[in-house]
Amino acid sequence: MKRIIFSGVQPSGNLHLGNLLGAINPWVNLVNTSSNENDFIFCIVDLHAHTVPQDPKLLREKILETSAIYLAAGIDPKKAHVFIQSENHDHSYLAWLFDCVTPYGWMTRMTQFKDKSAKQAEGTTVGLFNYPILMAADILLYDTTHVPVGEDQKQHVELARDIAEKFNHTYGDTFVLPEPQIGKENARIKSLQNPAKKMSKSENDPLGTVNLLDTPDEIVKKIKRAVTDSGTQVETGYDPEGGISNLLDIYAASTGKTKTEAVGELTWLQYGAFKEKVAEAVVAKLKPIQDRYREIRNDEGYLMSILDDGRDFSIGKSGKKIEQVKEKMGIGRVG
Ligand code: TYM
Repeated sequence: MKRIIFSGVQPSGNLHLGNLLGAINPWVNLVNTSSNENDFIFCIVDLHAHTVPQDPKLLREKILETSAIYLAAGIDPKKAHVFIQSENHDHSYLAWLFDCVTPYGWMTRMTQFKDKSAKQAEGTTVGLFNYPILMAADILLYDTTHVPVGEDQKQHVELARDIAEKFNHTYGDTFVLPEPQIGKENARIKSLQNPAKKMSKSENDPLGTVNLLDTPDEIVKKIKRAVTDSGTQVETGYDPEGGISNLLDIYAASTGKTKTEAVGELTWLQYGAFKEKVAEAVVAKLKPIQDRYREIRNDEGYLMSILDDGRDFSIGKSGKKIEQVKEKMGIGRVG
């Protein structure tokens, strides 16, 4: 059966190792191992970025940075469509219609909203609350069958599925029910400073996050300072929720090995030597991506033409879905 794969990253700050290892790398593997009949659509979700305050000039830069990182990380634009969410108005249009379909009670269960709104307190906007509905629109506009994401987005994909089911039940078959596709490993890379939390763009401590465009020196420094378990060397009985486990995940994903292989290779190393190995692996993983990133940014015409093609493809597809939805919901005029 033909698969339609959709996913996205917010251009709200620096993309980091969690985004690469938990999302973009798995996308690249899916594209490269897929048969030609499948469609891959990767979006830069800039409307989502405004759920927290943004500097407009910086956001524009981050949109291009994120697009170029997708390509530099290995997304082949001949096999996948890459576009900017705000350039296709169907996303925000469908989000409003879904606002009117989604029970309020479903939204109050979203754990990410609870965490983020607790941090932002008075600054919390309705947009932050509604964000999973916009995400549902992103996914459902394209008859998406699979959504490859890190673990933190699973609940949002499940909500999209629930919204599709409710809409279909109310108005008749319209949307495909999507499935989250979450890898067994690397789906949750933790902060280097606090392994109880995921690595995130909004982390306050800059030492907790390895950004994809960090220099080798910055990467080495951050990994050297990463928190460990309480011992002095890597043990087979490492704490599965601790800093060593996280560094093993990072090593495994950066070298393309399994975690079991990583443990076999690195057990009994002193923490200092172990961190050197992890840092080396991360630098080696990021170097070709950074080199390719610079090439792409120096050839803005190339990037623009890919984003133009992606925009045209997405509008062509989503426009048909919006026509169906309008008809089913009875909005607009006939014809
Ligand atoms: P965002 O921008 O927070 O993250 C982008 C992708 O990276 C994954 N990720 C992680 N994976 C492993 N470890 C981490 N520490 C880590 N941090 C982030 C996320 O799970 C995600 O896959 N709402 C989404 C963007 C979005 C989207 C969509 C995704 C909007 N519309 C439609 C899929 C389909 C978000 O904020 O991701």
